[in-house]
Amino acid sequence: ESKPIRVTVTGAAGQIGWVLCFMIAQGRMFGPYQKVILQLMELPAAEQVLQGLVMELKDCAFPLVADIKPTTKIEEAFDQSDVAILVGAKPRGPGMERKDLLNENAKIFKAQGEAIDKYSKKTIKVLVVGNPANTNALIASHYAPSVPKKNFTALTRLDQNRAISQLSDKLKTPVDDIHNIIIWGNHSLTQYPDVNHGQVSVGGKKTSIREAVKDDKYLNETFIPKVAKRGAEIISVMKKSSAASAANAACDHMHDWWVGTKQGEYASMGIISDGNKYGVAAGLIYSFPCECKNGEWKVVEGLAVDEFSKKKLQETEKELLEERKMALDI
Ligand code: NAI
Repeated sequence: ESKPIRVTVTGAAGQIGWVLCFMIAQGRMFGPYQKVILQLMELPAAEQVLQGLVMELKDCAFPLVADIKPTTKIEEAFDQSDVAILVGAKPRGPGMERKDLLNENAKIFKAQGEAIDKYSKKTIKVLVVGNPANTNALIASHYAPSVPKKNFTALTRLDQNRAISQLSDKLKTPVDDIHNIIIWGNHSLTQYPDVNHGQVSVGGKKTSIREAVKDDKYLNETFIPKVAKRGAEIISVMKKSSAASAANAACDHMHDWWVGTKQGEYASMGIISDGNKYGVAAGLIYSFPCECKNGEWKVVEGLAVDEFSKKKLQETEKELLEERKMALDI
């Protein structure tokens, strides 16, 4: 039997955090045998809801949950953490500009980076969900210099899952027949959902997505914005932002990183761009196709990038450079 690992979840009583805690407790993130100690952090304003969450989690009597530690104190939340899922963030309020949003969140992720540096294990694996996720991850990493930069990642797996789901609808194929769809860059409207290396299994044979769809206009002009704007589409339909699908994607991301990707399957992850072979500037948290093994990610190398894709990769890189500059100014 394995020793329980300490998993920090910030914003645990929020929309995503709430669902996420149950998924982790059920083994969706670390597999069916890994026990967890849940260190759940909230703002004082949400302390009551957090208390209710803990009561419900306890009443599930989940065999994988070794302990639950709710807290509003950052030093308790990050104490000895093996994993941190940073969901809590300041949402964009009415009339708030991108710069204000970055400003508010920079403060939160600076404090959490410092806490990770001081209190968590040096091997901690961090996944940032709270937006702007890529730049928040960069800020947290910056303030945790004693933890390797490769241990800080941002969530773009929801975008990858959304892309797969769109293609599954288009091709009338089950989702698990679709492979290696990539999200490059920022978790924002400039992201590039790339199908050029994607494949679909038809009758046991793999065909390229472009060949199977036979509609480049759809793929280049409809599919890309559809995926990028899916979050807004959900808000317009249910008047709330996506929560369960975001929590599910966070589980997919961490599960692949922790347990490993399946042979030959790519996982899109926002990771430190240092040393990448795709011409992306260093020092950004940028989403690349990754393969994971033994708890380490590695960028898939040698994929051909055509002119169309190159432009897309640069567009989202430009936005991340601007976000970084704004964050540094703050
Ligand atoms: P929410 O507002 O329902 O929950 C956020 C929770 O975080 C609240 O309970 C709040 O009290 C808490 N919180 C805020 N600041 C905190 C801090 N400094 N420490 C601890 N807790 C703190 O929001 P929701 O819907 O759960 O979304 C959370 C974040 O995830 C948002 O920033 C959202 O934009 C982002 N998101 C990211 C996605 C991605 O794919 N990367 C997808 C969907 C949402």
